[in-house]
Amino acid sequence: MPEGPILSVSVLAADLRCLESQVATLERAGANWLHVDVMDGRFVPKLSAGPALVKALKACTSLKVDVHLMVEEPERHIEAFADADVITVHAEATHHLSMALQRIRDTGAQAGVALNPGTPLASIETVLTDAELVLVLGLNPGFAGQSYIPETVHKVRDLDAFLRRHSSDDVLIGVDGGMRENKVTDLAEAGAQVFVAGSAIFTKDASVESNVARFRDAAKAARR
Ligand code: DX5
Ligand code: ZN
Repeated sequence: MPEGPILSVSVLAADLRCLESQVATLERAGANWLHVDVMDGRFVPKLSAGPALVKALKACTSLKVDVHLMVEEPERHIEAFADADVITVHAEATHHLSMALQRIRDTGAQAGVALNPGTPLASIETVLTDAELVLVLGLNPGFAGQSYIPETVHKVRDLDAFLRRHSSDDVLIGVDGGMRENKVTDLAEAGAQVFVAGSAIFTKDASVESNVARFRDAAKAARR
């Protein structure tokens, strides 16, 4: 795990017509992970990518591939994503969260648990020893037109304290959804170490390189 902030770039925001060159640009720019949003049309309304995209990414980069499963009963799909380096499932999507996290670790990937904005930290209290990442959603995922929820920074701060209270301060805190560089410093100061960003990286008015650099600088500016 690299020291310092981890920028996980959502590849679905890239130009998928030239995925390999976009990934090479992200590598040169200094992105740490590639984030793949998998949506099943049930847990969230949208459908998106599947295992084939993960395999294609693994074939063209050494960056870590960070899969975010926004799917019902994710425990049924873990093996299909075994090529990934990080696999995150939603606490709200399964009756078998501990088993899902264990299945992820059995593939050799790092196990993450994600929380929608309306889900309390208490819902993951008994699985902290199974998880290496807690991903806090900054908006309601998979619905069009959602905007970032400013209270997310309080949830991150509470999660940081929560993990310390449970002697789980080695668990990474990530934030995903609606991320913009002007939010990163506060989130980093609240305890976040992993920042997922998509549309803020692939913009019309600036290069991927400069967007990545600004995100990383904003995260490094945090006083912890
Ligand atoms: C929630 C997804 C996010 C999102 C990130 O919808 O889990 O990964 O695609 O993209 P931006 O940064 O554009 O919200
Ligand atoms: Zn995501």
